[in-house]
Amino acid sequence: MPGNSFGNFFRITTWGESHGKALGVVIDGCPAGLSLTDKDIQFELDRRKPGQSILTSQRKEDDKVQILSGLFKNKTTGAPISMIVHNIDVISKSYEDFKDMYRPGHADLTYDEKYGLRDYRGGGRSSNRETVGRVAAGAVAKKILNKMGIKTYGYVCQIGNVKIEKIDFKYIEKNPLRCPDKNKSKEMSSIIDNVRREGDSIGGVIEVRTIGLPAGLGSPVFNKIDARLASSIMSIGGVRGFEIGMGFSISEKKGSEVNDIMIGKKKGKVVFSSNNAGGILGGITNGQDLILRFALKPTSSISKPQKSINKSGKVRNLKIKGRHDPCLCPRAVPIAEAMVNLVLIDAIFENKLSKIENLF
Ligand SMILES: Cc1cc2nc3c(=O)[nH]c(=O)nc-3n(C[C@H](O)[C@H](O)[C@H](O)COP(=O)(O)O)c2cc1C
Repeated sequence: MPGNSFGNFFRITTWGESHGKALGVVIDGCPAGLSLTDKDIQFELDRRKPGQSILTSQRKEDDKVQILSGLFKNKTTGAPISMIVHNIDVISKSYEDFKDMYRPGHADLTYDEKYGLRDYRGGGRSSNRETVGRVAAGAVAKKILNKMGIKTYGYVCQIGNVKIEKIDFKYIEKNPLRCPDKNKSKEMSSIIDNVRREGDSIGGVIEVRTIGLPAGLGSPVFNKIDARLASSIMSIGGVRGFEIGMGFSISEKKGSEVNDIMIGKKKGKVVFSSNNAGGILGGITNGQDLILRFALKPTSSISKPQKSINKSGKVRNLKIKGRHDPCLCPRAVPIAEAMVNLVLIDAIFENKLSKIENLF
């Protein structure tokens, strides 16, 4: 099963299953000399963990991280950094009843078709628990990026058909939904609570913004920064749409309405009159804020009775047990931030080779 690694210069490999003994990540390419402790990692894992509120899965995992290698006296040594998180609250019995059934909207069918067998307990490798490793690695990338003045913020901007009307960055982490609009947050949270009570689920949209980026990150042709970002976000389970800047709505406009006009230079940086491009031109950052959005589908594992087929193709009644997120959005925010930070750190390291003067 290849495809568990991401990045070229700051390369991560995640491992582990939802109901296995543990999950983790190995980072290859973190420079020596970075101050790093468990606390830096734990802060992000706590934002990702289940059981944070009634808006998320009720699985109770502390997700306590242990850094196994690559550190000496709280500084990175340049050696691979290996991190582990043990699975504690595993109830595999809930999955026994439908182990031969294919959950609609989940990866059960395709894993069986491809591998001929699958770890049905908690969805195995297709579970969102795999992202524990991504978030742990993303915390290391974030620490380096923050030192460079680069900061990434994610937030929920739509649940069902309710959209935010304003962005208060300070409010994002003050509500369990991670919505930046106080009024809309209440409305959105009650939508999630209602579908949860009905044994159903709901989708939504997340926006991610990065500020403080230099111009020049990303390379033509296949390593365009938007291509890398799309790949990183689309690799998160349940993502069904991705856009940069104005995204899909730009297709309804005229060039004269959407071209970001360059109006001068300030402190060596080009100033634009708008940011419809989302901070990227020709696959390379232009020094403006990076803005991307992605759509998440409603969680497929719902407790409402459904029909599906079993391995032999027979139609059966299906009642899914286990603890599931009624909406993927609140917990997907730190995961998306981690993926964006991993793409950016990789591009920054790659940029050290973009011109000869960067080497001296
Ligand atoms: C934060 C987050 C939490 C998730 N929680 C669940 C869950 O509780 N139950 C579930 O069936 N799927 C959950 N998923 C979605 C599955 O991982 C995903 O639907 C599955 O891997 C199939 O992949 P696909 O939807 O991209 O086709 C979650 C995804 C994310 C990003």
